[in-house]
Amino acid sequence: MPIPTLLKTNKTDWSTEQSAEIYGINNWGADYFSVSGKGEVLVHPHGNGTGVSLRKIVDGLTDRGFDMPVLLRFSDILDSRIKKLHESFGSAIRDFNYTGHYRGVYPIKVNQQQQVLEEITEFGATYHHGLEAGSKPELIAAMAYMQDPEAYLVCNGYKDEEFVDLGLYACKMGLQCIFVVENPSELELIIERSKALDIPPMIGVRLKLSTQASGHWNESGGERSVFGLNPSQVCDLIDRLREVDMLDCLQLLHYHVGSQIPNIRDIREAVVEACRVYIGMVKEGAPMGILDLGGGLAVDYDGSHGDSDASRNYNLDEYCVAIVENIKSTLADTGVSHPNIVTESGRATVAYYSVLLFNILDESRFEISDLPTELPDDAHELLHNLMAVVKVINMRNAQECFNDAFYYRDEIHQRFKRGTMTLRERALAGEIFWHIVTRISKLTEEMEYIPNELRRLPSMLADIYYGNFSLFQSLPDVWAIDQLFPIMPIHRLDEKPVREVVVADITCDCDGKIDRFVGQHDTRDTLPLHNLTDEEYYLGVFLVGAYQETLGDLHNLLGDTNVVTVQVDHEGHVRYTREIEGDSVADVLSYVEYDPKRMVQRIRKLAENAVRDDAISAKDRRKIMEAIESGMRGYTYFER
Ligand SMILES: Cc1ncc(COP(=O)(O)O)c(C=O)c1O
Repeated sequence: MPIPTLLKTNKTDWSTEQSAEIYGINNWGADYFSVSGKGEVLVHPHGNGTGVSLRKIVDGLTDRGFDMPVLLRFSDILDSRIKKLHESFGSAIRDFNYTGHYRGVYPIKVNQQQQVLEEITEFGATYHHGLEAGSKPELIAAMAYMQDPEAYLVCNGYKDEEFVDLGLYACKMGLQCIFVVENPSELELIIERSKALDIPPMIGVRLKLSTQASGHWNESGGERSVFGLNPSQVCDLIDRLREVDMLDCLQLLHYHVGSQIPNIRDIREAVVEACRVYIGMVKEGAPMGILDLGGGLAVDYDGSHGDSDASRNYNLDEYCVAIVENIKSTLADTGVSHPNIVTESGRATVAYYSVLLFNILDESRFEISDLPTELPDDAHELLHNLMAVVKVINMRNAQECFNDAFYYRDEIHQRFKRGTMTLRERALAGEIFWHIVTRISKLTEEMEYIPNELRRLPSMLADIYYGNFSLFQSLPDVWAIDQLFPIMPIHRLDEKPVREVVVADITCDCDGKIDRFVGQHDTRDTLPLHNLTDEEYYLGVFLVGAYQETLGDLHNLLGDTNVVTVQVDHEGHVRYTREIEGDSVADVLSYVEYDPKRMVQRIRKLAENAVRDDAISAKDRRKIMEAIESGMRGYTYFER
């Protein structure tokens, strides 16, 4: 039930539990985030246990001179995610007396930042957690950070000679670097380079499954997927390896049916199909030993625990059990040993790790002026028609009135463009139109069924809060694929939120706004927020650790945000362990091929000419140049 706008703020008729409910934090927070009794969001980096207030962390950042927006990374959350993944698989393996091991690998593409790689390899060392590389730079990064001979280094992606040579050298140095053949032509290159360098390769093959998962990324799977070999190409690969006496190098079968798989049935179906191929490969004489299920372990972004694109109808333990149980039962009575299980879980490993924080800079209220009681006698007939709509709106004819209002308003716009209606007539038409839309929107609150077109009305009429961030830089998936991330204020949660808003960023792009939010039971078009006061108001966007950082772009030349890593000990003491300053104005200008020094020189020349022409004084020139130079050094975002 939407909350009416502009109710008076009242702390006494509101509880922090109600805030937790409307923002759904206990559904998507997964032991890492909660609301404190003081009305602040707490982070529990070790998964439950002592929590630390995000508002307090912001105070610590402000004291250290860090401006918003800031991306916070919680190393302990990453540690906890890797631990949970291995413990869940470990427990399923024990429960089913499965004889293979679990060996996770982290796909570097999901968040390539050096710190992420360093921490994953450090935290994952106990479990021999490996890496997946999809390109030469990723392979080099992997070799630099993951030097555990028991972990796997899985090479997917298109491979040229340099890539293959690098991987072979990795093998020679003792790493288990596995080339996954993604298309038939790669095999010849691997054979040729391994003979040339006299280094036996570890070979895997990516399989095109007929199983196609539901969800946004379902085209990664299925027979028409762009990557992988079909069963007949797998047979050709086996024949060719046998021919060159290298069948003993074939050790791994890989598939990836898509990221963020919402439905556990698809995971089960895919693993069973892959097991059948695996059995066939062993029977053909390949040693095998490793089954790599790719990514897909989903994150419950909307907290619904259902099979929507932003959620999943299973938890981590169920995922692990489904995989172990299905591999074991499919292999039963075939004489084939249980393979080591690899998953390339990316988003489930890093999504919880990062939180984007930003402050609200300003607001724009949706306000309509009073309707005139009567139109002037000489008012245009179309205005009379529009006014007539106002008088007849009810629940039953809401859609019809909505259609009429649009029709008359558009007609008036057309006539205004042709010069046959005046500016005042057009302005009056706008006022009547927005009255109609507001009335219809109110009626939808009581409708049992809301027609599709009328569902978006609350966000059309919502107030706008302007946040100090760039959607294109920090949340590209919101723009590109309508990805849903939980967003909520990190403080004042003991107060009732009295406004319904959409959140716009500071790019001047109409796509730079968020108008889909995680609600209590469903998604919603507006976010309930508090009135702005003199105190800074902060929002957090949660679960943004996967895919967002390097996909982001420089729209409006808003650059990388400040990034601060926070560690919290078991007593709740906070340490700011790593601080990376965001891009300066000079940085982003140089990314797009400007030379900041030359730019300053050019402006200096402009100023000097202005002094010469007596347009400014020499002192003015100094002030202008100081402003330009300090602007170049400054943060690209709004600084208070
Ligand atoms: C081959 C491969 N492995 C792993 C992943 C990671 O998937 P996820 O982030 O869903 O775990 C991807 C991403 O789509 C992928 O293409």
